[in-house]
Amino acid sequence: MLEHLKWRYATKIFDTAKKVSASDLETLKEAISLTASSLGLQAYKVLNIEDKEIREKLKAVSWNQPQITDASNLFIFCAYTDFTDKDVDEFIALNAELRNQKPEELENFSNYLKKDMNTRPAEAKKAWLARQPYIALGNLMTTAASMKIDVCPMEGFDAAKYTEILGLEEKGLAPVCIGAIGYRSTGTLCSINPK
Ligand SMILES: Cc1cc2nc3c(=O)[nH]c(=O)nc-3n(C[C@H](O)[C@H](O)[C@H](O)COP(=O)(O)O)c2cc1C
Repeated sequence: MLEHLKWRYATKIFDTAKKVSASDLETLKEAISLTASSLGLQAYKVLNIEDKEIREKLKAVSWNQPQITDASNLFIFCAYTDFTDKDVDEFIALNAELRNQKPEELENFSNYLKKDMNTRPAEAKKAWLARQPYIALGNLMTTAASMKIDVCPMEGFDAAKYTEILGLEEKGLAPVCIGAIGYRSTGTLCSINPK
C-alpha cells in the first residue's frame, strides 16, 4: 500500500487526452460510497461535472487552476447545509430497506437522530456536516492511487460562486472540496515535480 501512496501526488497538470474508463469511475464511486461517516449519515452528494462550459466557468472562480478543466473528471463534494427530520426519515427508510426491516423497528434510532440534529447549534452542525466529505475525498485519493489514477484534492475555489453556478442553494448543498481525477501529464511541465 505504501508504494501507492509514494506514487501519488497532487497532480497539477493532467494529460487532457486520457480519460478514466467508465468501469474505473464506478470503482471510484463505490470507494466513496463505502466511506465511513459520522452516524453513518453520509450527508453529502458528489457531483461529477462533465459539461465543458460549466467547467470553464468553475475554473474562472478557482484561481484559473487548470485541473478544473483538464482533469478527466471533476468530482465536487457538497455537504448538506442542514440535516432535518425529513432527512432522518429518508435515512431511516433507506436503512430499513437495506436491512430488510420495517422503519418502525428503527424508531429508537430515528428519535435519537432527530433529537441530536435538532439540538446541535446551527453553526456547529454546519461545520460538522462540512467535515464529512473530506474523509470520502481521502478514500477516493487512496483508491485511485492503488489504480494508478491521479487525483488533485482541491479547496482553492470560490464556494459562493460555485453555489451560484451549480444552483446548489436550492438543493440544500454547499461545495466543500474537489477531487480532480485523471492521469498526470508526462510532458516537460511535469518534470518540475520531484516525484
Ligand atoms: C484539502 C486540500 C485542499 C487542497 N487544495 C488544493 C488546490 O486548490 N490546488 C492545488 O493545486 N492543490 C491543492 N491541494 C494539494 C496540496 O497542496 C498538496 O497535497 C500538498 O502540497 C502536498 O503535496 P502532495 O499531495 O503532492 O504530496 C489541496 C490539498 C488538500 C488536502
